Amino acid sequence: MPSVVKINVLTVPAEQREVLEKRFASRAGVVESSDGFEWFELLRPVDGTDNYLVYTRWRDEASFQAWMEGPMKQAHQGGGGQPPADRPKPAASASTVWSFEVVQQTGPKNTGA
Ligand code: HEM
Repeated sequence: MPSVVKINVLTVPAEQREVLEKRFASRAGVVESSDGFEWFELLRPVDGTDNYLVYTRWRDEASFQAWMEGPMKQAHQGGGGQPPADRPKPAASASTVWSFEVVQQTGPKNTGA
């Protein structure tokens, strides 16, 4: 079964970038321990758009869904997700999730050096 990639696309106004990056700098760090979790990257836009990408890769769809239903909520106490009134305002003004299956992947050739 191929891995699945889930990318949360966050729209972050210029004046909120620092706030967003600081929140990620002190993120919960729980996703690393979730069953089926494979990779995370926070990607900052450098081409003039307002879209940060939160790249995540999972063993399968079920692993991602299990994280969404449980640990994700604890991982979004600092202004991410859908906050109740007692949480900080999100730095992002919009978000949407893109879903993919990994069809092929590779890394650099091992040079043996
Ligand atoms: C309204 C939607 C969302 C917003 C605004 C948002 C924003 C944020 C922010 C600001 C953080 C840093 C921690 C915090 O301060 O809360 C965070 C953590 C994170 N977000 Fe989101 N997020 C959203 C939904 C999602 C979704 C659907 C995914 C799935 C791809 C995702 C993946 C992650 C991951 C993996 C972390 C790190 C968790 C950890 O360290 O354990 N987020 N998010």
